[in-house]
Formats: sequence, C-alpha cells, structure tokens
Amino acid sequence: MAKRNLDAAKTAKKDEFYTQLTDIERELQHYWPHFRDKVVLCNCDDPYESNFFKYFALRFNQLGLKKLICTCYNGSPVQGNELLLRFEPWDDEAEIKKKAYKVEITEVKDMNGDGAVDLSDVRYLLQNDKNVLSTLQTGDFRDPECIELLKQADIVVTNPPFSLFREYLRQLMEYEKKFIIVGHQNAITYKEVFPLLKENKVWLGYGFKGGAAHFFSPYEDVATAGDHKKDMIRVSGVNWFTNIEIAKRNEQIDLVCKYSPGEYPTYDNYDAIEVCKTADIPCDYDGLMGVPITFMDKYNPNQFEIVTLGIGEGNFTPKKKYEKFRNPETKEFISDKRDFLLYVRKPNGKYLTSEGYRLDKVYARIIIRNKHPKAL
Ligand SMILES: C[S@@+](CC[C@H](N)C(=O)[O-])C[C@H]1O[C@@H](n2cnc3c(N)ncnc32)[C@H](O)[C@@H]1O
Repeated sequence: MAKRNLDAAKTAKKDEFYTQLTDIERELQHYWPHFRDKVVLCNCDDPYESNFFKYFALRFNQLGLKKLICTCYNGSPVQGNELLLRFEPWDDEAEIKKKAYKVEITEVKDMNGDGAVDLSDVRYLLQNDKNVLSTLQTGDFRDPECIELLKQADIVVTNPPFSLFREYLRQLMEYEKKFIIVGHQNAITYKEVFPLLKENKVWLGYGFKGGAAHFFSPYEDVATAGDHKKDMIRVSGVNWFTNIEIAKRNEQIDLVCKYSPGEYPTYDNYDAIEVCKTADIPCDYDGLMGVPITFMDKYNPNQFEIVTLGIGEGNFTPKKKYEKFRNPETKEFISDKRDFLLYVRKPNGKYLTSEGYRLDKVYARIIIRNKHPKAL
C-alpha cells in the first residue's frame, strides 16, 4: 500500500490492516481443491490495494476459478487515487475518495503472450472485455447490492474490518456461505462466535507464523515486539476462521501429561480442573477441564467436546458467588461483581475470601471434555 495513502488514514477508524501476500499464500495452499469452478468474493478488498485480489487474479487459471469479484468500500480512507485511470472526469479530489466499485474477473489470459506481465494488474486485466469494473453505491458489505454479490459467491475470502467482525460473520452464516477470513482470536469468546465454534460450524485455519501477523497499516506500531517491520503493524493473536474442511481438523493433540490433583487445581466455583496450557491437557482425565482459548487452534471435534465458555454472563453458572474479597495487601474489601469468572485457590492468591482462603482468578477459559481419555 502506497505511503501517501497510509498517511491519509491516520485519523480514521482502525480497520485498515492490509494482509501480506505471503500470509495469504501460506493459508490458502491448504484449500486449493475447494476453489475449482467456484465464484470467489473478496468483499472488503480494493483491488488496487488488496493482496487477496492479487492472489486470486494471479492463480485464477491454476485454481480453476469461475469468477472473482472484489468490492471496494467507499469508507476506506486509503482507497481512491488509482481510480482516475478508469472513471473520468472527476469533479474534485473529495469525490474520488468516495467512490465505491467492484471488479469482476471471469477470464485471465496472457494477452501479449510474453508472460512478463503481472496478471494481477487491474488495468491490464480490464483490457479484456470479459472483465468488468463498475461503480457501487457504497461497497459496504451489508448493502443490498453487495448482498446480491454475496448470493452469487461460493466462497468468501478476505480480512474483514476487525470492528465489524461479529456482523460480518453473522452475514456469512445467514447466507450459508463457505469462507476463509482473518479474525482476532479474541473473537472466539464473542457470544455470537463461540456457539458456532462449539457446534462445529466454524473452526480455525492454519494460522499465521508464530500466532502473529504483520499487516501493512497506516497506524503507528506501538508494540515492543522484536520483529518490527517497517510500515507494518504486528498484531498478535490473529488467526483464520473458516468453515471449509481442512486436514488440520483431523489432527489429534498428542497428550503426554497424566492427571494428578496436585498439578491440576479444581476451580473453586466450578466443577472442572484448570489446565493453563493446551500442551498440558492430561490424557487420562474424564471430567471437565478449563483450557485457554488458544486451544481452539488445536481443537479436533473427534478428540474433544466443547462444553461451554468459562467466561461471560450466561455462558456458565458458577456454583459459588463471591460477594466480597479482602485485598491481602491493603486489607480492604473489594466487591467483585464478575462472578462469571473462574477462580482457583492459591496460597499466594490476590484475593482473600470471607472464609479466609486465597483465590486467583483465571480469565477466558473454554470448558472441554476429552472424548476418549486413556492412561499413558
Ligand atoms: C482489515 S482491512 C483488510 C483489507 C483487505 N481485505 C486486506 O486484507 O488487505 C478491512 C478493510 O475493510 C474495509 N471496510 C471497513 N468497513 C467496511 C464495510 N462496512 N464494508 C466493506 N468494507 C469495509 C476497510 O476500509 C478496510 O480496508
């Protein structure tokens, strides 16, 4: 993405994170057979900026695609200038930046036969009459004209705006679309998303290297991680969400730990044991276990049952409520209304109960059960 455009987006809502081609390639290599004769829609993708467009345009014939549709949203602060190439005349600059449009590709051929042209170049692709660029009202994925395009699509592939992830996924489910989309792992705990994972309607893809993605972005990278890249933002906890069958779903976690009450404390307010790392799931425990949300990355529905989300009102009912804690340091009473969190007893826990024992709270946990527990 051009630097001038990045500057233009600095004050905007934080949805401008552009995916690298290498990350798209790394994930989509696992889905190739699913694309043959399919209509692919990238509906948060300015063809001039998006590597999703580039990916599918470059591999249009290799994947055997029937059609590629990309739509560009007029609210995107980095979209605009390149359109001068196509739509003329413009009244003023402001109008340029507000243009929404779609590109529909149905044929990709090496027009001059020298093989040297980058087939992902939009201008070049549009020299072919079978490929069309036309305007849209807004390009908002929720708009009726975009929904009409969604209806045409077999598979939707994109990195949608983080701020609208719930709405975006809900729409895909409503129209019963196959999809491969980027999202943050925190979305696992959303009340609109978790039930889909629990019911095996959605699962996680292969993911980004080291669980973190570098996106081209206009925002300043405030993270202190060592692997900073120029003009990019590193976002940890990013993953792919999909409902397309992938081999990874059938891989089992190799369980090498054995249960012992000393190593796996039971929650004070729920009948399950605390397992703070997925790798530590005991192979022989047949009861309920609380695991971190990163477990979803390894989840195989033949190996485990997802019981509930151990966080969030309404998701689970703790067997005990704590009216007030005493802070062991200040000796003050603290009222903790969040009785939907899980707590474990710890000798040096941060909270002192009225009964005189110490607790620590654990945050997001998924409550699971091993379907086939067995001794080592
Ligand atoms: C996370 S960025 C990803 C862009 C591109 N898909 C990629 O991965 O490189 C999300 C994009 O969606 C656009 N967007 C925001 N709201 C939108 C909406 N309601 N409809 C369609 N696109 C939207 C943003 O302007 C932004 O360009």
